Amino acid sequence: MSQMKNLNATTYILDGIEFTSSLSPTTRLSQQLRDEAQIKSVKVGCNAGDCGACSVLLDGQPVCACLTPLAQVAGRKVETLTGLMANEPLAQDLGQSFLDHGAVQCGMCTPAMLVVATALHRRHLAPSESQVKDALGGVLCRCTGYRKILSAVMFRPVPPQSPSQVEPVGAAYTRKDGAARIAAIDFGDDISETDMLEVRLLRSPHHHASFVIGDLDAFMQARPQLRMVLLAKDVPGDNCFGVIPEFADQPVFAESVARFQGEAVAAIVAPTAVLDSLDWNSFPIDWQPLPASMDVYQALSPGAELLHHHRPNNQMCEGRVERGDLQQAWRQSEATTSVEINTAFVEHAYIEPEAGMAKIVNGRVQVYGCTQAPYMDRASLARILALQETDIQILPSAVGGGFGAKLDLSFQPYVALSSLLLQQPVRMTYSRAESMSSTTKRHPAHIQVKAGVDAQGLLTGMEFTGTFNTGAYASWGPTVANRVPVHASGPYRWPNYSAVCRGVHTHCVPAGAFRGFGVPQAAIAQEMAFDQLANAMNLDRLDFRLRNALDQGVATVTGQTFNGSVGIKACLAAIHLPWKKALEEVESRNQEAIRNNSRIRFGVGVACGWYGCGNTSLPNPSTIRAGISKDGQVVLHQGAVDLGQGSNTVICQIFAQALGVAVDQVQLANGDTDITPDAGKTSASRQTFVSGNAARLTGLELRRQIGSLLEIELRGPLQLLSGGVQVSDVAGKLHHLDLRNLPDGRFGYALAAQQSYNPPTEALDAQGQGKPYAQFGYAAQMVTLAVDLDLGLVDLKSFVAAHDVGKAINPVLVEGQIHGGIAQGIGLALMEEYLPGHNNLHDYLLPTIGDVPPIESIIVEVEDAHGPYGAKGLGEHVMVPTAPAILGAIHHATGVWIQQLPASPERISAAISSKKESFKHG
Ligand code: FES
Ligand code: FES
Repeated sequence: MSQMKNLNATTYILDGIEFTSSLSPTTRLSQQLRDEAQIKSVKVGCNAGDCGACSVLLDGQPVCACLTPLAQVAGRKVETLTGLMANEPLAQDLGQSFLDHGAVQCGMCTPAMLVVATALHRRHLAPSESQVKDALGGVLCRCTGYRKILSAVMFRPVPPQSPSQVEPVGAAYTRKDGAARIAAIDFGDDISETDMLEVRLLRSPHHHASFVIGDLDAFMQARPQLRMVLLAKDVPGDNCFGVIPEFADQPVFAESVARFQGEAVAAIVAPTAVLDSLDWNSFPIDWQPLPASMDVYQALSPGAELLHHHRPNNQMCEGRVERGDLQQAWRQSEATTSVEINTAFVEHAYIEPEAGMAKIVNGRVQVYGCTQAPYMDRASLARILALQETDIQILPSAVGGGFGAKLDLSFQPYVALSSLLLQQPVRMTYSRAESMSSTTKRHPAHIQVKAGVDAQGLLTGMEFTGTFNTGAYASWGPTVANRVPVHASGPYRWPNYSAVCRGVHTHCVPAGAFRGFGVPQAAIAQEMAFDQLANAMNLDRLDFRLRNALDQGVATVTGQTFNGSVGIKACLAAIHLPWKKALEEVESRNQEAIRNNSRIRFGVGVACGWYGCGNTSLPNPSTIRAGISKDGQVVLHQGAVDLGQGSNTVICQIFAQALGVAVDQVQLANGDTDITPDAGKTSASRQTFVSGNAARLTGLELRRQIGSLLEIELRGPLQLLSGGVQVSDVAGKLHHLDLRNLPDGRFGYALAAQQSYNPPTEALDAQGQGKPYAQFGYAAQMVTLAVDLDLGLVDLKSFVAAHDVGKAINPVLVEGQIHGGIAQGIGLALMEEYLPGHNNLHDYLLPTIGDVPPIESIIVEVEDAHGPYGAKGLGEHVMVPTAPAILGAIHHATGVWIQQLPASPERISAAISSKKESFKHG
């Protein structure tokens, strides 16, 4: 972020007003707009022209501001979202349309989408779908799956809400934080304070290397503008962090050896301009590269170096579930199949790189920035800084996508430590390369499955072995190892079952939490085996799943039974008709293709998924607080971080329903650890279920207090008046509670309540038997696609996705999760593969607006006894069936199984070629 003064000032028209910049003409326009003009709606996701987040209009045409030198705009007209929203009704209408359609999740891509859409509408009054796709093709969104953005830009009608829907729960409210998400100026990198320093990290350029730091005193003396260099020895507390305290193993700064490329070794604190001009090669460090184990096969081979001496064979952990007798299963089987797959590292690729700042306020360390887990951050920082937790305040910024990776610490220790030692504000923003090289990924998995079926088409047994590459440090590896064996069964009934999953260390970037915690990888192998068994028995693939689906009162593989909340059959039933229709259509199109000698073949695939909401067999509480002030204001203190999925809105709806007020009457106090109790981390699809329940209990408690003060039993909604509350009793008689006369209550409110909810779970025994989750959500998805047999190109045609969410608290937000999860599932199946060392979005293929076909979402509501108003979690579930459905459809179209993911065109065409070869020779 260089701000070198230059005598050649650049004058241009910025949002309709002449602006003269004193920065160097070579400065990136994005930097000038953000740092000098203070227009923070211009986002920076990559600084390389790959994400489009920095899009602005230059003389009316969209350009990437990060690729546009300031000199290029001299005398020209630049428009940003900030100016468009202030001046142009068209942009304002588009912004409203985005909110109405639920096209905004985290909001990080939204300014660019709106800017580009405005330019499109100036050219075309009513752009077609393909014109919208062409226009927005260069702007990436990781959250929404694009379909709602498409509808919003085309001003398609919003589906009307049912007229009977008058209660908060079940209503398609627009986001409570909608205006803030459209403005998009409250992310971790959007902060700017005077007197602020920046900290940057020296990271290992090697996958595995020892190192020796040289003469730092001489280095610093030669560069007096540097304020501080930090090494492991400067950490006052534990030079170690990790999301699971018993497995914490990652150093804040590596000490003498670096275990992955991108590991932090040292930090330098200085003014930004000084850091920009620093020659990082001059840092005194001698590297000695060492042999590296880059996959689990190398790490497990005899003689492989141990990454951590207390973890023999580089095995970090193991989880298992055993039930019945597999030998008996094989004896009873009419057919068996064996499947082996390998998946890749997958990058979270949220558009917002990690960013935040720290400063000292009244002697306490205040950390502001993106996070999914403010209280976990606080606890970790207390250990690192050797402070009490109460000496630290975490203020979550808006989060530009998380999907699991922002559960782990990233920038936080470095800004907090620098700020504490210098007693000055310090900021940090990861570059895209840093974000990709150092933050967690989806685990690459090697999975083997053997499964059998009897003569009636009923499953006999399944044996599952999963080896997951957990990288150099544990992160969420233990969670993956424990969750996968429970879920690898899929939502089916298994009399005999064995699943073992282990996490293995390699010299790769740590793998951690990513939407599904290993379950999407497991489902790929299990559902592939299902297709093969159905084919072997000549059974319809969907009917085969239905025949073996889990049901009420049927034990899961951990011996847990649910009565009344198992929704997988309902999901399969919901897609049954579209499935039959698609099979017929595909059959006829393939016949036609054969007649026409076409190289295109069509296929349809189906897959199921289930997902246990919340932690596996561990305490998982959430606490929510609320109060009513003496002037009748209702404030909800909800600390569940909203990553874009909508927890601010959904939890508010649940609370409003319980209390009996309108959603609009509830003010939110968010996330700040000083003012919101611990609602736990935003992960594992737990917030609607767990924090939602805490919000429901809190609303009910406030209602109980009102009834108790009035000595009546309440019926119906509350009327909030200035200074009072009006309610009816069961006989319909009106009562008035004067809040002004009440003594000061807890937390400064006239009435206050704080309630917690902890899902009822039980530990698993040595065989993995027990009650790991209080609720599961269920899903069945089908996809129709075409494959070019010569090129291996896959053209997705449509998805139908049925999801049992128990109760859709907000149907539009539910659909948003379905679309976003399917888009990520498309990436997992077809294009995403992170290779350590390739740290840019240019080499990393992500789904664009052109890659996501129409999605028909079917919301299934099989109410859950534990869920708030019957609701179940959803976020992770969505991407579990997507990839296996796609792979099944590819097989249906081509006859080949792709066992190495992603199923890139090269891999598909190679598989087709080798099948043709084997026919020739067989
Ligand atoms: S920040 Fe400019 S394209 Fe990504
Ligand atoms: S809403 Fe598009 S990146 Fe999050």
